[in-house]
Amino acid sequence: MNKDFDILYQKDTFVLQMENSTYAMGLAGDYLGHIYYGKKLPQVPGHSLLRKAEYSYMEGKPGDKCTFMDGFPFEYSFGGTGDFRPNSLEVKNAEGFLGCELTYRNHRITEGKSPLPGLPATFGNPEDIKTLEIELEDKSLSLAVTLSYSIFRGLDTVVRSVRIENRGNAEVSLEKVLSACIELPWENREIVSLHGSWAREHVVDRRPIGHGRIEVGSKRGISSHQEHPFLAVCSEDAGEDRGEVLGLSFVYSGSFIAEVERTQHDMLRIGMGISDYNFSWRLQPGESFQAPEVLLAWSGDGFGGMSRTFHRLFREHLIRSPWLHKKRPILINNWEATYFDFNLEKLLTIARVAKSAGIEMLVMDDGWFGHRSSDNSSLGDWVVNEEKLPGGMKVLADAVNALGMKLGVWFEPEMVSPDSDLYRAHPDWALAIPGRPASECRSQFVLDLTRPEVRDYVVESVAKVLRSANIEYVKWDMNRPLTDIGSLSTAGGEILHRYMLGVYELQERLLREFPDLLLENCSSGGARFDPGMLYYSPQIWCSDDTDAIERLAIQEGTTLIYPPSCVGAHVSICPNHVVGRTTSFATRGIVALSGTFGYELDITKLSEEEMAEVREQVKMYHLYNDLIREGDLYRLKSESSLGKGGNGRPSCAWMNVSPDRKEALLSYVQVRGGANLRSEVLYLRGLREDALYELPDGRTFTGAELMYAGFVADRIWGDGASMLYHFRCVE
Ligand code: DGJ
Repeated sequence: MNKDFDILYQKDTFVLQMENSTYAMGLAGDYLGHIYYGKKLPQVPGHSLLRKAEYSYMEGKPGDKCTFMDGFPFEYSFGGTGDFRPNSLEVKNAEGFLGCELTYRNHRITEGKSPLPGLPATFGNPEDIKTLEIELEDKSLSLAVTLSYSIFRGLDTVVRSVRIENRGNAEVSLEKVLSACIELPWENREIVSLHGSWAREHVVDRRPIGHGRIEVGSKRGISSHQEHPFLAVCSEDAGEDRGEVLGLSFVYSGSFIAEVERTQHDMLRIGMGISDYNFSWRLQPGESFQAPEVLLAWSGDGFGGMSRTFHRLFREHLIRSPWLHKKRPILINNWEATYFDFNLEKLLTIARVAKSAGIEMLVMDDGWFGHRSSDNSSLGDWVVNEEKLPGGMKVLADAVNALGMKLGVWFEPEMVSPDSDLYRAHPDWALAIPGRPASECRSQFVLDLTRPEVRDYVVESVAKVLRSANIEYVKWDMNRPLTDIGSLSTAGGEILHRYMLGVYELQERLLREFPDLLLENCSSGGARFDPGMLYYSPQIWCSDDTDAIERLAIQEGTTLIYPPSCVGAHVSICPNHVVGRTTSFATRGIVALSGTFGYELDITKLSEEEMAEVREQVKMYHLYNDLIREGDLYRLKSESSLGKGGNGRPSCAWMNVSPDRKEALLSYVQVRGGANLRSEVLYLRGLREDALYELPDGRTFTGAELMYAGFVADRIWGDGASMLYHFRCVE
């Protein structure tokens, strides 16, 4: 077996061999079960974990079919025939009876991997990817279920997806289709997930796994603020740099479910996929259903290792934008500066002052179209409000370009306001259950993107604006969950998923026409910050909470999975509009620099000292952005529940280390000051032990000293004070 990167089939066992990990499954008769997932094994593992006749319902009846069904560690589980644990697949036949039994049919191992029709998916050069497809079948339903596993050279990841094909003569109804299932005898494990709310996204939550079921999910039609399409199962001792962690991330932006059950036999069954809430998909003879990808990342080096694996996977195999490896223009967004109260004059004044400080792009946020002067109207009417912008978009774009800046524009294409020409002309284009008034949320309805004519309208109305002027960036917002799941043309149980396919199609079509567009997705901050949207946009607005101290936790939770290069982060004004806190301009800069970087304030109102700080931060961006965007992230210290222990001091520190480990940026924020404390010692990570690193003040240290003896941070004064240290290798 090729030791680094291989897939093989031997003695009824499938083995996926990655950089530091092994994934193995095997056949027990015709049933496919889990054997192992963890630290790399040098040899093909045996079958002993596939217990075939171990469990009994009652004494004297070991191994009968029903008890086998409820005990065997199925690789992809099915409901209705005796498996009472969370199922991956639930199917009803044409008469409405639930039942399925999947057995092995054949398999193939190939180089590379195919795209998934209509869905975001990982990709790469065929010589760097190997794929195993195992076809299972239900003989009674004539259903083919193809499990797909791709592995990537140099990465500890397995990418899984599932395709279901109706090869019979009768319709079947898919009631639940997960994309991945794992079942292993893991003991003493804990779960980490991300929860939150508007302006409080991606809060790390860690808890033990008792008996029964733990569910994380969204029924909202978006991946949501509240829960995140991510789950990690870790050893009890796991921290930033130690312990075993398995992370699961779902490449999907709609309703999802991730479930874990500690079974009666103390096995852990883990499943992830599209939510079965309000899902029912009729599959006609000859049709197939493609479930999205789940990304598995295994780490023997704690959460830090898992995060860096995900970051590489996203940067090398998921984000497609030509902007991915480029320095993005430093932007200034007018939302917190003006909200809806702006006009050409005001925008150009902001742009002029911003340009004088080195800012490169003006982003015009919500309120430029229809007669929108609050969030009560005009969504859907993507026509410039000439009272605000006389002469239209081209006049603004030309004036901004004449200043030497780029122009970006906000849209919320998936929505319609009841007070809009679009709604008056097409009230049936909004999602609603016929005969029942739909619920407004932020005074808006969601367009029925399951309908092709609605999608055509949306693409064309956005494209028309983009064609009319030199717009180089779009902020694509989405500000409400989906309710009233009804449509004039689409079956109820198919709407949520078909809506998501519609959104993906819209972004795909737009990018096809404007391939160089810098797209930033957004959903009331981070309600749709997920791998699915990253396939289309290289960055996503992370949270409407722009307070630097709050952002420490929000951005830490976000970068648990996603690379800093895609975390939308801006410097905003104080007292902060969401939490009322005042934090130094310098700290606001350091926190925003560790994401995409930009400003969201009325720059015309800044003092001379603050303007000098903006100029300084612009310089820092040009100096450090390559390192932050392309480097490896190491979290040294935080207040989250991820790392246990620590010195109890409320501070936060992280590092960005260049791929060649010759350069590192250390960011340190003292969240709360304290009296008479010793200077804080930070143990750096990711450096070369024997290399000599120098700070701009001339102090030098070996990598070993910085990592094992530690670096003594300067004593700083006050809440929210911060420091930035730039280490460069001098030997
Ligand atoms: C929500 C976004 O997160 C904000 O940044 C802003 O664009 C508003 N929508 C505008 O309505």
